[in-house]
Amino acid sequence: MEDLSLYILDIAQNSISASATVIEIFVIEDEEKDKLVLTIRDNGKGMDPKTVERVTDPFYTTRTTRKVGLGLSLLDAAAKACGGSVVVDSQLGVGTEVRAEFGYRSIDRPPLGKMDDTIATLVACNPMVDFVYTHNTSRGTFKFDTRDVRQKIEDLPIEHPDIINWIGCYIREGLNVICGGGNT
Ligand SMILES: Nc1ncnc2c1ncn2[C@@H]1O[C@H](COP(=O)(O)OP(=O)(O)OP(=O)(O)O)[C@@H](O)[C@H]1O
Ligand SMILES: [Mg+2]
Repeated sequence: MEDLSLYILDIAQNSISASATVIEIFVIEDEEKDKLVLTIRDNGKGMDPKTVERVTDPFYTTRTTRKVGLGLSLLDAAAKACGGSVVVDSQLGVGTEVRAEFGYRSIDRPPLGKMDDTIATLVACNPMVDFVYTHNTSRGTFKFDTRDVRQKIEDLPIEHPDIINWIGCYIREGLNVICGGGNT
């Protein structure tokens, strides 16, 4: 099974297609409640209620290049396989929130994967978009915000390879503190 970080990349891609300028990504690892919760929230164009209702159906897509949209239905299937679910909340003209819950200790739960590479890739490929990544474990909270990076680097473009490299390292180090270095 694929890492959860790849699902995050895919769901964030929907936000980018919906012209979002700010994408917030939350990862909550709640071992006590045996839950891992992923939330991707955007300020893109949103969906009407009828679309939201159909959005986890693999045969629903507004894409014109092929007949099935896989992103949300695959996430939904992965969550259900570990006793969880996906909830999509959206408002036309306001934005969308996708919340996926997984049983933390379910043997079917994919590992989280490389969140450092995932966020660095999202920033590198979408330099005009702001990303806020918040990750919570029993050891603490790590937060990364491209708006803070932009303030520090001033005129340098955020997609500069040195900056992207720095972002990857910064996130890796932050996650080492709250995840104890293990791959969750
Ligand atoms: N964040 C979002 N904002 C607005 N519309 C969205 C968002 N996420 C999904 N949608 C709508 O839901 C549809 C289904 O999304 P899904 O990711 O399942 O498939 P897709 O993006 O169409 O195709 P694929 O992900 O396989 O490339 C999209 O075509 C889009 O119309
Ligand atoms: Mg998609």
